[in-house]
Amino acid sequence: MNAKKIFLNEQDIPRQWYNLVADLPTPPKPPLGPDGKPITPDMLAPVFPMNLIEQEVSRERWITIPEEILEIIYRWRPSPLRRAVYLEKHLKTPARIYYKDESLSPPGSHKPNTSVAQAWYNKQFGIKRLTTETGAGQWGSALAFACNLIGLECKVYMVRISYEQKPLRKTMMRIWGAKCVPSPSKDTNFGRKVLKEMPDTPGSLGIAISEAIEDAVSDKSGKTRYSLGSVLNHVLLHQTIIGLEAKKQLKLIDEKQPDIVIGCAGGGSNFAGLSFPFVCDKIHGAKVTIIPTEPTACPTMTRGPFAYDFGDTARQTPLIAMFTLGHSFIPPPIHAGGLRYHGMAPLVSHAIKERLLEPRAYQQLECYEAALVWAQTEGAICAPETSHAIACVIEEANKAKAEGKEKVILFNYSGHGLMDLSGYDKFLDGELTNYSLPDVELKKSLESIKGLPKP
Ligand SMILES: Cc1ncc(COP(=O)(O)O)c(C=O)c1O
Repeated sequence: MNAKKIFLNEQDIPRQWYNLVADLPTPPKPPLGPDGKPITPDMLAPVFPMNLIEQEVSRERWITIPEEILEIIYRWRPSPLRRAVYLEKHLKTPARIYYKDESLSPPGSHKPNTSVAQAWYNKQFGIKRLTTETGAGQWGSALAFACNLIGLECKVYMVRISYEQKPLRKTMMRIWGAKCVPSPSKDTNFGRKVLKEMPDTPGSLGIAISEAIEDAVSDKSGKTRYSLGSVLNHVLLHQTIIGLEAKKQLKLIDEKQPDIVIGCAGGGSNFAGLSFPFVCDKIHGAKVTIIPTEPTACPTMTRGPFAYDFGDTARQTPLIAMFTLGHSFIPPPIHAGGLRYHGMAPLVSHAIKERLLEPRAYQQLECYEAALVWAQTEGAICAPETSHAIACVIEEANKAKAEGKEKVILFNYSGHGLMDLSGYDKFLDGELTNYSLPDVELKKSLESIKGLPKP
């Protein structure tokens, strides 16, 4: 019961991904096309390869992981389940805190669980080049890593503020052979338009997605596709290997089902990856509290409406039913670059509507304080995104102490922060402040969804 690291043997790695759609009490709302009618798979074909579109619309509960993908991800999988005994001791909590360590992948986060799968399926479909956006740089480097191993070209549009804050992420992408440009860029019509209208914009994930899609669909050879690092059903599907491993690891040490499952949520993929197998248990009667966490600066799940909205700023994507701040949202430059997306994965959004999840928002300073406690007890320096999960873990562990209850808390340690030290520097120098999105700003960005169909 006191193991600090719980390892799974390679032969015990899960061989199928879990698709929550098969177990949801009600079906999720379909994405809509420009005519307001549900889209058909072929409408997505210029953007994604058909084998991934099939996963996107699948209702099968289990989808087999191809052996070739497992061969690549054995580099870091199965990831260890660790117990945060040093943090528990520091907090004097009776809670047992476990976490999946996704920071051990070569790019440093959970993102390669899907980048490898996406690059592999694209290659199978005859695609030669992938385009994508990146916020914090974790996704861009994960796709660069995967394309390099699988033999695809890769072009990354990196949100300008992150490009400036994290130049070394760009170096990682270059090492893995990808091209990375700041977004908005001069390489696309949409990027040039935004630069003309807002020359000093810090950029946004919505703008970078528009650029990457435009780049992919305007390649006349038909050999370029777009790849998204979060939000979509197939991306969340690829991440479920995290939660499936965690279940096996908890069983190995005869630990009970977790009482609380926590993950930070930008587009929702690391959170869903850990939590969806436990959401399945909850649907079937298990008593578990499942918490996605987000910044108060970008409070999509806690303050946005559930609405149909576009996934990108240029309104090129289908309309998606999700919690959203409006596709024109330009986030404030907080340091958790990966948590600045205006929307939330439709499956996570649907599970919130079904009251299966209980989202919470945290202030920037509280998150950095939690990250320091973590670094000074457990030792590792977490990504600023991950600190939003740790702030919640500490809150829940303190609550367990106040109640005198032996709760089991499980969370996803989505990435390390070794490329994010400038944010830590600013925090240590007292230069960071708390920020809650003002009501007027929220109202302004929600103007962009007025007149769109209602879910
Ligand atoms: C370390 C880390 N955690 C979490 C996230 C949030 O993304 P998602 O919600 O897709 O997991 C990111 C995004 O870049 C990230 O880099």
